[in-house]
Amino acid sequence: MELTFLDYKPEYQPWFEKLNKAWLEEYFVVEPFDKWVLEQPDEAIIKQGGKIYFAASGSTIVGTVALRFIEDGVYELTKMGVDKAYHGGGAGQFLCRAAIDKARELGAKKLVLWSNRMLENAIHIYRKLGFTEIPVLAGTYGRADIMMEINFNERPSAIKKTALNAQEIQQLRTETKGTSERIHFNNAGASLPPDMVVETVINYLNEEAVYGGYETEYKYREELENTYTLIAKLINANKDEVAIVENASTAWGLAFNGISFEKGDVIITSEMEYVTNLMGFLNAKKSYGIEIKVIPNDEHGNFLLSTLEETISHQTKLIAITHIPSTSGSMIPIIEIGKIACRHNILYLVDACQSAGQLPIDVREIDCDILAITGRKYLRAPRGTGFLYVRKEVQDKLKLTLMDSHTAEWVSETDFKIRDDARRFELYEKNRALALGLGKAVEYAMNIGIDRIWQRVQNLAGKMRKQLEDIDGITVHDQGDQKCGIVTFSVNGVDSALVKSELAAKQINVSVGKAISTLIYMNKNHLTSVVRASIHYYNNEEEIKVMCDALKTMIK
Ligand SMILES: Cc1ncc(COP(=O)(O)O)c(C=O)c1O
Repeated sequence: MELTFLDYKPEYQPWFEKLNKAWLEEYFVVEPFDKWVLEQPDEAIIKQGGKIYFAASGSTIVGTVALRFIEDGVYELTKMGVDKAYHGGGAGQFLCRAAIDKARELGAKKLVLWSNRMLENAIHIYRKLGFTEIPVLAGTYGRADIMMEINFNERPSAIKKTALNAQEIQQLRTETKGTSERIHFNNAGASLPPDMVVETVINYLNEEAVYGGYETEYKYREELENTYTLIAKLINANKDEVAIVENASTAWGLAFNGISFEKGDVIITSEMEYVTNLMGFLNAKKSYGIEIKVIPNDEHGNFLLSTLEETISHQTKLIAITHIPSTSGSMIPIIEIGKIACRHNILYLVDACQSAGQLPIDVREIDCDILAITGRKYLRAPRGTGFLYVRKEVQDKLKLTLMDSHTAEWVSETDFKIRDDARRFELYEKNRALALGLGKAVEYAMNIGIDRIWQRVQNLAGKMRKQLEDIDGITVHDQGDQKCGIVTFSVNGVDSALVKSELAAKQINVSVGKAISTLIYMNKNHLTSVVRASIHYYNNEEEIKVMCDALKTMIK
């Protein structure tokens, strides 16, 4: 169902009243406060600084929602009603999500709501969109037995906004041994870890060697548990939606292979999809007879949201998207795609392998069901670390592909009970030293502020692209309106592998982006390989100049 979002007009009042009265009368009674608000929304909501919105399908109004002004910075999400004939079509979620966006635009610091636990579907949507339960403030509605809020200030993206200054950069470089050794522009391969991350891992391993693996695990149990909390905070998830695994491919595969595909199902993806994932789709095609549909970018390198809309059908089982491809600095609009996936109620899997640690990733904002991440890239965690996010409501829908006594409890000789959180996707035995290192790296990034990291990465990458473009004989390949810290280019007439090795001889690390990593995009652009220089916040302008000077010498 294609829905449009409409602002309040006085002539819509009868709809506002009718849609709300219908559900109030079905489940409760219309309380005196409701009656006044519904009959005189101009007085009760609009003139008080609130807003009323409607969802329409064509010219038919199918639902409504209001934002009631309570006090400076605090609004109530209220009077959400959807025509019964349109239940299950995504209108409730559509309205709720749009109202949250509007509250944010209005400058709300908090959005609260009162509801009743009987309204399970509505509460499910509220949780899904980021509302958390708080103690009920009594008095406003007799029927309310649950109160929830979104505290916009607590969102991870709202951490420190100021740019990283020169002194901070110097300090961060001092805390990273590798920065004094080489110029490291291979952060999309693996970043240089902060010294404290390395020390955390080494200390843990040393303790294991002296006290024993299980004994050390017991000693560090709280810190190990805290790693899940830190990861959850990083991506705005709940702790029980996170599993720690060895890498992004494992995370992605554990979720993807758990989907119950049937012949005729369609997976929609983009031309920038990563090799592991594309091979997963092809494997599902061979095993189940699914179909793969690839949305091409337009001539400017932007993902075509309208084509995605047109491609979706009843057969669409999954939208699977890589946010930042491994061989280009362009980005796919995962938040906008999430809105479309949600409106059509389609499972949505995001590969954020190159994104986490580079820019804010908020699973509620993206509205993805599954997210796969690696540790060693922009998060600066040790190699061999990664994690998987699976939305709570989706966990039971995925089959387990691996099991041990950690994923499930063996309740009798003939039965088992799968555990009630995302750790069902991870096995008991793992490298705990690395998991602890991953937690440290996540904490380190959040202490700097992911927004600030993103600001600096974009700024430096923009400067690098500009300087490369100004060199005769270099072609920069990154396309699209939104670009990230990955800069890809070719030196005319020089093989990318040779560029890499010549720079390596000058203590400059770059990598080669091979066609095989993103075959559809590379084939379309007639590229067999590119040089990839990927920037992190600890890089600086001097390093960019040194690399560009080295390239100029190579071209002469
Ligand atoms: C976009 C993307 N997705 C997934 C992966 C796979 O990550 P991992 O090597 O951690 O499995 C990579 C690795 O380079 C990648 O660039």
